[in-house]
Amino acid sequence: MAASYVGKKTWPFLKMSHSNLLLHLLVGCVLVSAVDRNNFKKCDQSSFCKRNRKLQPGNSPYAAVMESVKISDSLIEMDVLNTANGVLLSLELHGMEMNTARLRIKESGKKRYEVPDVVQPHLIKSRWTVSQTRDSLEASLQNGITVRLTASPLRLDVMEEDNVLISVNSRGLMNFEHLREKKSPKPPGEEGREGEEGEAQQDVAEEPGMWEETYKSHTDHKPKGPTSVGMDFSFPGFDHVYGIPEHADSFALKTTVSTDPYRLYNLDVFEYELYNPMALYGSVPYMLAHSSERTVGLFWLNSAETWIDISSNTADKSMFNRMLDFMKRDSEVPQVDTHWFSESGIIDVFFLLGPTTEQVMYQYATITGMPSMPPLFSIAYHQCRWNYNDEDDVKNVDAKFDENDIPYDVIWLDIEHTDGKRYMTWDSHKFSHPIEMQNQVAAKGRKMVTIVDPHLKKDSGYHLNREAIDNGYVVRTHDNNDYEGWCWPGSSSYPDFTRADVRSWWADKLSYENYKGSTPNLFTWNDMNEPSVFNGPEVTMHKDTVHADGWEHRDVHNVYGYYVHMATVDGQIKRSGGKERPFVLSRAFFAGSQRYGAIWTGDNEASWDHLKMSIPMLLSIGVAGIPFIGADVGGFFKNPDPELLTRWYQAGSFQPFFRAHAHLDTKRREPWLLPPHMTDIVRKAIRTRYALLPYWYTGFYKSSNTGSPVMRPMWQEFPEDESTFSMDNQYMIGESLLVKPVTDPGANSVSVYFPGENVVWYDVNTLEKFVGPSTQSVFVNLEKIPVYQRGGTIVPRKERVRRCSTLGIADPYTLIVALDTKQEAAGQLYMDDGHSFDYKSGLFQYKHITYKNNIIQSRSVDMNGRYQTKSWLERVVVIGVARSPKVIELSGDTISTHHVEFSFNQSNNVLVIRKPDVNMATDWLMSLKM
Ligand code: GLC
Repeated sequence: MAASYVGKKTWPFLKMSHSNLLLHLLVGCVLVSAVDRNNFKKCDQSSFCKRNRKLQPGNSPYAAVMESVKISDSLIEMDVLNTANGVLLSLELHGMEMNTARLRIKESGKKRYEVPDVVQPHLIKSRWTVSQTRDSLEASLQNGITVRLTASPLRLDVMEEDNVLISVNSRGLMNFEHLREKKSPKPPGEEGREGEEGEAQQDVAEEPGMWEETYKSHTDHKPKGPTSVGMDFSFPGFDHVYGIPEHADSFALKTTVSTDPYRLYNLDVFEYELYNPMALYGSVPYMLAHSSERTVGLFWLNSAETWIDISSNTADKSMFNRMLDFMKRDSEVPQVDTHWFSESGIIDVFFLLGPTTEQVMYQYATITGMPSMPPLFSIAYHQCRWNYNDEDDVKNVDAKFDENDIPYDVIWLDIEHTDGKRYMTWDSHKFSHPIEMQNQVAAKGRKMVTIVDPHLKKDSGYHLNREAIDNGYVVRTHDNNDYEGWCWPGSSSYPDFTRADVRSWWADKLSYENYKGSTPNLFTWNDMNEPSVFNGPEVTMHKDTVHADGWEHRDVHNVYGYYVHMATVDGQIKRSGGKERPFVLSRAFFAGSQRYGAIWTGDNEASWDHLKMSIPMLLSIGVAGIPFIGADVGGFFKNPDPELLTRWYQAGSFQPFFRAHAHLDTKRREPWLLPPHMTDIVRKAIRTRYALLPYWYTGFYKSSNTGSPVMRPMWQEFPEDESTFSMDNQYMIGESLLVKPVTDPGANSVSVYFPGENVVWYDVNTLEKFVGPSTQSVFVNLEKIPVYQRGGTIVPRKERVRRCSTLGIADPYTLIVALDTKQEAAGQLYMDDGHSFDYKSGLFQYKHITYKNNIIQSRSVDMNGRYQTKSWLERVVVIGVARSPKVIELSGDTISTHHVEFSFNQSNNVLVIRKPDVNMATDWLMSLKM
């Protein structure tokens, strides 16, 4: 068994310098280093976190009332009594298709926030078979899991046969703070008498912070009092847990026994620190546990502030006990224990029982939605900075890419392009001809993106703000005024995106008529949507502000940015009459954001540590169901030295969302400003990305059908290999490519782990062969990106160099066939027009390509595909062929059988088949006569 990573804690040096955010704004963004921790709460500064964390394992006061059990098909219902105070809760256990189940615990007769719009409608139910005794119940799904419920104290064990996979409340940490009236102080003489609420509710000791809580200068009014919910979940047999982004921390989650719990609370953290569980811009309350035997998932559907404690019987063992175990050869079953608590809402949990990693991912995507299929241009290279200053700047940068023969697809405009930070307007001096500007860029097949943040400048002359205020669309304060907060434009209002009517209004604002100066080639960037409020508590919105139906911001905080993203995407789809795929990048996110588009990791820093951290951060977001993710290439804050920038381009070219971005105060750093030999290297990295776009695009298509990330942890592909479980410095793109970015200065070698018993790996540049399982030190010069193709796979490429992806849509393909030890390989190729929704009605081709028994064959796997393309097959490179064929014969649907040219290199066993010249949309077969 691999040493558990759950136990390793790498607390960084505490950076002491303070940044003053407002000062930063006023003086034009002074670059100061490091997060100001004082701006963000620790657990002991949050009353509900303290109350829940204080609970000790032991007997839970909650008990199921077995006489109340009602069973109807896929739903089991019962009352649960808090025996300490007599409060009744209601429990529901839903049987669902594909080895999944849902547990909901609500408060009987009370209205509490239940997150809408995340879980997909029409999930397929599955029937329970139930056996019941006086104090327990066993419910099984056909061919699947069993949930064993023990009544008192309440405990659930989710099992497969006799194996417990997830235990619920086995440590007795369940907590459901019921809604209550605030007790008014008793008149003199009545102090000893019980109040209106009756004896039942007297157990709860009043604690400071329950009805009002002050953090720094901010008072949080809590008219509903304490409303938190919490539960413990244990994963017996597991040593490793992952997910619950967003944190700047290792991919394998650590125990939190001597740190704060991992926090989920969407926040704009200025210069975030690495290796700690502080909250960041997005939240997905979803965790995967993985062992060499199986994977399970747990999704805690709650959009309030949430904390998660993790402990592990193996990782938390003292050194002494570990030595004792070693001497006694103790084989204690590993177990990860987790404790989740949220400030409000209900307990709503999904158990996803795999058993394989892919099945868990599919189950999660079935529940929260499959990732959307991005337009082709959006997975190519993006050029951004804060800011491209004016139309000339845009024109020059665009021209420079051509001059330097570097492809790019999108140029971005940050907040300075607007009229005084009024989004969806243009600075009339610097951007006086926005349509002409976009058309010029579009004439080369490229696109533009403008930033559209959700805060609206408080200015009655600004149409968006005026309409929002006049229509009563903005979030309200606790005392019923329009909420106002500071952001980039100064005083701003915040539309209530949790309301469907507000989202629909916003979506309409993105139409070409309403968003003046916008064209079909303009796409959108939603930033600051946590939401960021510079003068708010923890740089966000006051929790006691009021949203639709009287729900407090406290209830909806983590889903606010998700709704902004949703509304913007809807707007883009609407503006094209439902024809074109949208592209919207968002900083805040929640479970389900994969349905809307891309996410990036916010304001990182130009340092080697941040470059390294991009990998675990992206892996964590990816396994949490969001595949379209990236980090600012080059680092947002500070100036990268040329080597760091070059290495970052190389790493970024192998990450799903590939965009260079930089802070306003940084030096210009477009690729041609590097020393010439480094510009050459960056050009090569970007061109490599373009060559591999067919592979990426196919990967995104698979993702949109399976929920599986494109950038994957090693263990997803090698689930039984324990040595990969803590690995977060190398990863896979799809099933075929292993990537180990160079993330150290001056590196001349990196150590690469090649997994898989007898699996062969080929260096994609040199075709050098490595055999797994083995760790090898490989030589790297500055040009080298260590990338390896797994034997047994086929990777499609396009080798023509173009200015942007759309210009290459009809270009020919090259197939790289890397054979395994059985002389076989397989892979897929997905093709469509790259931009419209026509693929949904059959205008696509999905090909399965195989090499077996000396036959290479391409066949449609989905017979609904009717897309026609001009693309043809230009070349097939077969790596690892035992000997040269005598002739190669090509036959196909639309061609007569004929021989094709080839050459064979005996020294490295590489066969190159030239110009087979067959249309890629057709089915064909090549027979190698040996
Ligand atoms: C935020 C974003 C950053 C952007 C800046 C100005 O800091 O994270 O990417 O450049 O705001 O809009």
